[in-house]
Amino acid sequence: MTAVAVIGLGAMGSRVARRLLGAGHEVRVWNRTPERATDLVDGGAVAAATPAEAARGADAVLTIVADPAALQAVTEGPSGVSAGVAAGSTVIDMSTIGPAAIARLAAMLPEGTGLLDAPVLGSISEVETGSLTIFVGGPAPLVEQWTPLLGELGSAIRVGPLGAGAAAKLVANTTLFGTLGVLGEALGLADGLGLSRAAAWAVLAATPVGAQAERRREAIENGEFPPRFRLSLARKDADLILEAAETSRVDVRVTAAARTWLAEAEDAGWGGEDYAAVLAWILGRR
Ligand SMILES: NC(=O)c1ccc[n+]([C@@H]2O[C@H](COP(=O)([O-])OP(=O)(O)OC[C@H]3O[C@@H](n4cnc5c(N)ncnc54)[C@H](OP(=O)(O)O)[C@@H]3O)[C@@H](O)[C@H]2O)c1
Repeated sequence: MTAVAVIGLGAMGSRVARRLLGAGHEVRVWNRTPERATDLVDGGAVAAATPAEAARGADAVLTIVADPAALQAVTEGPSGVSAGVAAGSTVIDMSTIGPAAIARLAAMLPEGTGLLDAPVLGSISEVETGSLTIFVGGPAPLVEQWTPLLGELGSAIRVGPLGAGAAAKLVANTTLFGTLGVLGEALGLADGLGLSRAAAWAVLAATPVGAQAERRREAIENGEFPPRFRLSLARKDADLILEAAETSRVDVRVTAAARTWLAEAEDAGWGGEDYAAVLAWILGRR
């Protein structure tokens, strides 16, 4: 049994904590909004008063919060993880926050603390079934040490040294936003040119976005996008991609354009919707 702290009990973190509890680990939890810990405490988790308290004495400290500012809020200062974590423990960040935030966290942690960046591909159903893909950055022996724990949540792939996991996640999401943008625009063009929807779906099935079209078809036709991954988080990810690309002098003009669809939808008040609702925004038919 491993003593694991889970910091951040949103859509993903609450399910991560539940799954680790189910696997028999000792789980301590902390969330900014404490009420979100109630069900987990009923299920056997121990609620901590601060992230530092949750981290104190834990073998592994998992952070899974919204964005770089949230990661700073839970890891820095007198009540943050870095104030409670001890040498020999490992902090595993599973948020999507980009390589710069991981470098900042590495500089904050006390000497002797392990750190892995382990952001995830997959959403709430993949956490529940333990079928996430987890991109892990960090020293190989440390990754090996924590692969069994991460294995409760999905398949851990070591993609390189510290920061590589955060980088890999941005690479993966670059394909996601571009694909959704292209799918929405292609369907919008089909509508504009007078193709029937039946014809449009048949055409799209024969293209490189065929699998996405099939996956999104029902939601687009019903106008219902069950919440899994908030649109505001997707916009945050697109911003992180652009920032990271600028820092490394990479031209990502297609992603920059795809980001504008997400930004427009969020600015119009759709931030709490599932990110796939951007398709409805592009099609302008909600
Ligand atoms: N949902 C998905 O399908 C999915 C898939 C892959 C990766 N991710 C990534 O996983 C991370 C978590 O996503 P999620 O869907 O679980 O998000 P979420 O449901 O919106 O939860 C966000 C979490 O971050 C906390 N938080 C936000 N700002 C904070 C601050 N300033 N200080 C302390 N805590 C703060 C929230 O606390 P409160 O409860 O107090 O608001 C909550 O625990 C994100 O980086 C996201 O991009 C999500």
